[in-house]
Amino acid sequence: MASQAPWPCAAISEAELGPRTTIKVGGSVEWLLEPAHPDEFVTAWRACLERDLAPLVLGGGANLLIADGRRSGVVITTERMSRVFRPNRNEGRDWTANGDPSAPVSQRSDDDSAPELVAWAGASMPGLVRAARELGWSGLEGLVGVPGHVGGGVAMNAGGRWGEMWDVVQSVRVLTPEGELEDRPRDACSPSYRNGNLGGAVVLGAVLRLEPANRLEIKERMRQYLSEKSAAQPVTERSSGCIFKNPDPEQSDGRSAGKLIDDCGGKGLSVGDAVVSPKHGNFIVNTGRARATDVLELIERVRRLVEDESGVALQTEVRMW
Ligand code: EPU
Repeated sequence: MASQAPWPCAAISEAELGPRTTIKVGGSVEWLLEPAHPDEFVTAWRACLERDLAPLVLGGGANLLIADGRRSGVVITTERMSRVFRPNRNEGRDWTANGDPSAPVSQRSDDDSAPELVAWAGASMPGLVRAARELGWSGLEGLVGVPGHVGGGVAMNAGGRWGEMWDVVQSVRVLTPEGELEDRPRDACSPSYRNGNLGGAVVLGAVLRLEPANRLEIKERMRQYLSEKSAAQPVTERSSGCIFKNPDPEQSDGRSAGKLIDDCGGKGLSVGDAVVSPKHGNFIVNTGRARATDVLELIERVRRLVEDESGVALQTEVRMW
């Protein structure tokens, strides 16, 4: 049921959240707000605060496990805030620059020399990576195959072996939990492994700095990374990405979480339709109608197995609501 009232942006009551995650698991929420612009997001956030509600923020749902059943309160989705564009020199980094929202990202601004993109939080990671490739700008190709939205990618410093999000972030626009807008330059931030370290602030968008390069070479690197990734990970199946963070190499003899789980015989373990991927030990895939309780129980089983067999206490990377 779509409705404008009583919220200052589009809103859906009793919205199903499971289909909005990549693992397709989870229940519903009383209100789902859908701001279409960062400013509208701020207004929606403040409207929640005025009602003493603490909203949760849903991006691409790529690294998220949502509980079964109905949640009361509010979730704000960045789904409609999906723009990526070149900042216009005359308007500075005006986040509403380049007037026409449907203008192609490859449209040249008046300053051809600056390889910069503004990406709103709801822009898809694959779309952003493609846009940079089409412009012949290097720096994002290592993120090929990373699902989700830019907001989550910046907040958790998404990435892997070939690169991570903060390699290219020049500044980030965030909203503090108290509802204050802040533009934080890169130097004021200290991102680390799988963590943007933004202290609970919500990412509304980022300015990204790339490097002009040969487009064919970028394409070729992406092709190669993607084929290596598809060979090692269940990329076409429904999952939340890696479940556990890689442990400190000193504690695990340099073994990744996936390798540890594999060595301990965890691949193929299942609870209901939730299965530890036979392809990569650090993925749990939803092979049918898995529920959140199935996934959670399987995570606990895997954690115990690895701790008993190897002494390493794995920590989850996936966020849980
Ligand atoms: N391995 C096994 N068995 C397995 C899984 C892995 O033997 O079941 C071995 C691999 O053969 C390889 C080593 O373990 O020698 C490391 O595996 P992989 O290259 O797949 O990398 P990873 O450390 O498991 C990390 C990121 C991934 C990212 C890849 C590729 C983490 C927790 N994971 O995985 O990110 O896609 O590198 O760059 O940092 C995610 O964050 O959700 C994610 C999937």
